[in-house]
Order: sequence, then C-alpha cells, then structure tokens
Amino acid sequence: MVIKDYPDQYEVSTTTRAGLDILIRPMKADDAPRLKALFHSLSPKTVYFRFFTQLHDPSEEMFKKLAQVDHDRHVVLVAIERNTEDQKILGVFRLMCDPGGKQAELAVVVGDPWQGKGVGAKLFEHGFSIAKERGIESIVGMVLPENKTVLSLARRLGFAVRWNADDHAYDLRMNLRALDLEHMKHH
Ligand SMILES: CC(C)(COP(=O)(O)OP(=O)(O)OC[C@H]1O[C@@H](n2cnc3c(N)ncnc32)[C@H](O)[C@@H]1OP(=O)(O)O)[C@@H](O)C(=O)NCCC(=O)NCCS
Repeated sequence: MVIKDYPDQYEVSTTTRAGLDILIRPMKADDAPRLKALFHSLSPKTVYFRFFTQLHDPSEEMFKKLAQVDHDRHVVLVAIERNTEDQKILGVFRLMCDPGGKQAELAVVVGDPWQGKGVGAKLFEHGFSIAKERGIESIVGMVLPENKTVLSLARRLGFAVRWNADDHAYDLRMNLRALDLEHMKHH
C-alpha cells in the first residue's frame, strides 16, 4: 500500500470537557506500538463494542495495518495525551471512505481509563469537520444493541438509527451536510 502525505494541517491542540490536554492528529505509521498499548487498556466490553468480537492478543501485524492509513482517502485521527513523555494514544477516530469518497464508515474507541472525559466528543467534532470540508456526504456506522451509551449519543448527534435484523445490530446513518458543527461544539 502506498502511504500518502501526512496531512499536518489536521493537527489541533485542545482541552476536553474534563480538563484533559490532548493533541488530535492524523495517524502515523509508527503509531503501531501506541495502538497496541491502547488496545491493552481496553476492557473486554469496549473491545466487543468496537470490534464486535473478543480479540485475544492480536498480532503485531494487525496494529501495523491499523497504523497505516491512506490519508488521501480516509480520515483517521488519534488523540494523544499532551505534556507527557510517552505520547499515549487515548482514543482513535476512523472514517473509512468508499471508493467514490461520498460515504464513510465510522469506528471510534477511547481507552477505558479516559472514557467519559470528553475525548470522544473532541474526536467527533474535529473528525466530522474534516469530513465535511472534504465533501464526504454521509456517515454510516454499526452499533451493538447492548451499547446503550453510543445509541443515545448517536441519536443526539443526529444519526438515523435503524435495527438491522440480519446483523443483529443497529445501522447508523447521517447526512453530513445537515450536521450543525457549531451546535455540536456547545453541547
Ligand atoms: C463511544 C466512545 C468512543 C465515547 O468516547 P468518550 O471519550 O467516552 O466520550 P465523551 O466523554 O466525549 O462523551 C461523549 C458523549 O457520550 C456521553 N457519555 C460518555 N460516557 C457515558 C456514559 N458512561 N454514560 C452515559 N453517557 C456517556 C457523554 O454524555 C457525552 O455526551 P455530550 O458530549 O453530549 O455531553 C467511548 O465510550 C468508547 O470507546 N466506547 C467503546 C467503543 C464503542 O462503543 N465505539 C462505538 C462503536 S464503533
């Protein structure tokens, strides 16, 4: 796979609702070990909600693949804890675009020790704003029925939520053009 230029214009420093200082930046190929460390901070429930299955001891290869991103095509961001030496990744936001670039599939995870502190909210805000700027028109996703927090969050963000009996999960869909980013920032 060819790795395209790193889009450093997408780097932002910000402070979350709970006062965590973070840097949000595009994924880098050398993030693989940091992704591995993040993975090992996840509870079994978080792993299941993100990957829809229990992954036991995933290979180095998987983390390398997750760290390799074609930034021309996809929007993949990480939230890094600022002012610390080890540059821990606290969360990952992924929008994987279809070949036409109009529709993207969303997957997000924040490590259990940092959940509920506003890291996810900042990743959504920044990620959706980049997606809008790039002309991505709709965002789709899938959420397990047990994931009540994300189902209610998705409804609040303006996703249409529909039960998918074949996959036994909820399908999410949002028209990005209808998303009011200013409104998101203040909630
Ligand atoms: C979903 C997830 C990414 C959110 O990240 P986060 O950093 O914990 O989220 P935030 O602290 O920014 O909170 C985002 C919103 O969810 C709500 N929320 C977060 N944790 C909550 C909890 N435990 N109970 C109820 N609401 C909660 C917050 O109220 C917040 O809403 P607001 O921004 O309107 O105030 C994170 O919880 C996660 O990784 N979950 C497991 C993986 C997953 O479910 N991914 C989604 C499917 S791919």
